[in-house]
Amino acid sequence: MVCGVFALYLSAEEERILRGFEGEARARALEVIVRVGEALGASRLIEIKHAHISGVSYENIGDFGVEFIEGFRALGARFSVPTSVNPVSYDVDDLSSIPGVTFERSYVEAQEAIVRALRDMGADLIFTCTPYYAGIPEVYGLKAGDHVAWGESSAVAYANSVLGIRTNREGGPLALMAAIAGRTYYYGMHVEGERKPTISYVLEPRVVLDEVEAGVLGELVARMHVGERPPHVVALFEGDSALKEFLAALGTVSDIAMAHIHNITPENPGDEIKEVVKISYNMLEEELREKMPTDEVDIVYIGCPHSSLEELMKLAKTLEGTGTIKARIVVSTSREVYLKALKLGLVERLRRAKANIVRSSCLIVSPFANHNRGVKVATNSYKAYHYLSRKGVKAYLTRISYIKHLAKT
Ligand code: F3S
Repeated sequence: MVCGVFALYLSAEEERILRGFEGEARARALEVIVRVGEALGASRLIEIKHAHISGVSYENIGDFGVEFIEGFRALGARFSVPTSVNPVSYDVDDLSSIPGVTFERSYVEAQEAIVRALRDMGADLIFTCTPYYAGIPEVYGLKAGDHVAWGESSAVAYANSVLGIRTNREGGPLALMAAIAGRTYYYGMHVEGERKPTISYVLEPRVVLDEVEAGVLGELVARMHVGERPPHVVALFEGDSALKEFLAALGTVSDIAMAHIHNITPENPGDEIKEVVKISYNMLEEELREKMPTDEVDIVYIGCPHSSLEELMKLAKTLEGTGTIKARIVVSTSREVYLKALKLGLVERLRRAKANIVRSSCLIVSPFANHNRGVKVATNSYKAYHYLSRKGVKAYLTRISYIKHLAKT
């Protein structure tokens, strides 16, 4: 039983949970949510329809994380709402798909312990950072205006900005607590008024951005933006993958959880815009040029966040028109998108072009960087570029269409 006086309003049901009538695990999880809500100044809690837990890769959370998750399972924790999970440290269907990495038995067992505990609590083991491409909104009937607790920055930004589904950027442990409690604090992106932008960023001229340009725009907006409210963005994106890359970059460089994108975000931006900032396409191109490879690379990496079907099609088409490429092509995606690609014959086309397909993991949450220091990687993802560089890999940005120039035999 959790004792104490709380500053935020609690319903009779929430009081009951805190008193332990629904078990110790749920009481403890709800107490964490209440304490964080109090610290933030939230007035009450809100029920959620879904949770998505990040921080489930052994590479990222180590033994402490295993103990934490197993500890809640041992207390009898069960998820109160449908709950999905982010990628893990290796491809659960093919341990050899991440280049240059071999896994010790003890490492695999530690990751398996995390997965087992999550499964026992009721997780939907989708192992992807793009739950929106894995059918989660459709399966659980999530729609604009619904409240969820998601813990993957790129998915959070996509949910708020493209789907209109409301979530703060929860850390992995907080998303886990919210999943067990079935609630989160009514704060930030859950509050209608907090979603209204006051600063608008306008790209000039209005060029249609591919995924790599979109990522660089995300970086620029994140660096320029000040204030608590989401930025308003006026730009054109080539497709959904470009939007995904823009939002992932935004979430990588800053703690922004949403962008109000003109003609995309399914809600009224309001009328509080006080400042308009112009971003020139030339500036964007210059930023991109500085990050592009000038020489051959060893690996071309596509799929951070996990690739959509659209991205896989574009990649297959480019590789087929390119001839043999010396660089290794690695693409990461969800198992769901992989299965769709398999049916469409795309997997076969990609394998014929010698692409490694990584499911349920990626080059960043796996130990790839530890085993590939000094290796040169070009990617179409700003987020992957950012994290691989920080992990000691020589990373560059590239367009999918530019692959043929990178390392041809
Ligand atoms: Fe997803 Fe890995 Fe990138 S989890 S967002 S592909 S860092």
